[in-house]
Amino acid sequence: MKLVQTIKELQSELDALRGEGKTIGLVPTMGALHAGHASLVKRAVAENDVVVVSDFVNPTQFNDKNDLVKYPRTLEADCELLEKVGAAFVFAPSVEEIYPEPDTRQFSYAPLDTVMEGRFRPGHFNGVCQIVSKLFMIVNPARAYFGEKDFQQLAIIREMVRQMGFNGLEIVGCPIVREEDGLALSSRNARLSAVERKNALNISQTLFKSCTFAKSHTVAETQKFVEDAIAAAPGLRLEYFELVDGATLQKITDWEETDYAVGCITVFCGEVRLIDNIKYKG
Ligand code: PAJ
Repeated sequence: MKLVQTIKELQSELDALRGEGKTIGLVPTMGALHAGHASLVKRAVAENDVVVVSDFVNPTQFNDKNDLVKYPRTLEADCELLEKVGAAFVFAPSVEEIYPEPDTRQFSYAPLDTVMEGRFRPGHFNGVCQIVSKLFMIVNPARAYFGEKDFQQLAIIREMVRQMGFNGLEIVGCPIVREEDGLALSSRNARLSAVERKNALNISQTLFKSCTFAKSHTVAETQKFVEDAIAAAPGLRLEYFELVDGATLQKITDWEETDYAVGCITVFCGEVRLIDNIKYKG
């Protein structure tokens, strides 16, 4: 495995491999890697000849400066994990390498990017599209891998690829990897104290229970079930819970409206903002 820090070096390595007819898979990450990221890389290794993992904390997608400063950075440990799971290249560029001048491009995929995370983190998805489109142009992969943990991000990237073309690129969505007790793995979990970690468990447990509840209750009742459970849990503050159509990300009011229903949640656990989601139907 090779650690590469410049676009020029990565492209010359990849051009040579493409010349030999090798297929290239890309897994974009912001580092602080865990088993969730590893599951994407393993899938990419199984489906491509060469796998590139980008490890870059993208400043343009952080609407909260404090979150950017506090974002964990663990490149050495990341490389150890990536070596084990069979990545060929870790691409860890500097901010100047990726953004030699400010990126002024505007991406707009309304209504996908105006709801939920788009509403509470203005500019976030614009930054995600800036970096992901740059990575697609730099790496020119056959396939790129994204987690369903960031459900809205995956939907927006699919739409960006559909609208921009990107030369036959296939976007592969991968299931959420959870801790044994159910908490969705996240780089931000490293910032939770022991007590907060315990409190955070109520997020996934509430979602799991709401799936059973939803079988015999309406959308509005299920909405209230989740809101009440999070309000009653210690140390959690609900930012939003929305029951949406998994394709359009628009709110549903009746289970019969869609055959793909997903519940997306964002909760503050102390200062740490955690997201999760669960499929009710489809
Ligand atoms: P990051 O949060 O590092 O996540 C990288 C990828 O890993 C994303 O596709 C995310 O959905 C996936 N992932 C994270 N936790 C997961 C889990 N528990 N189970 C399955 N997949 C999981 O998402 C980003 O970085 C950035 O926005 C990025 C796309 C790299 C652009 O900067």
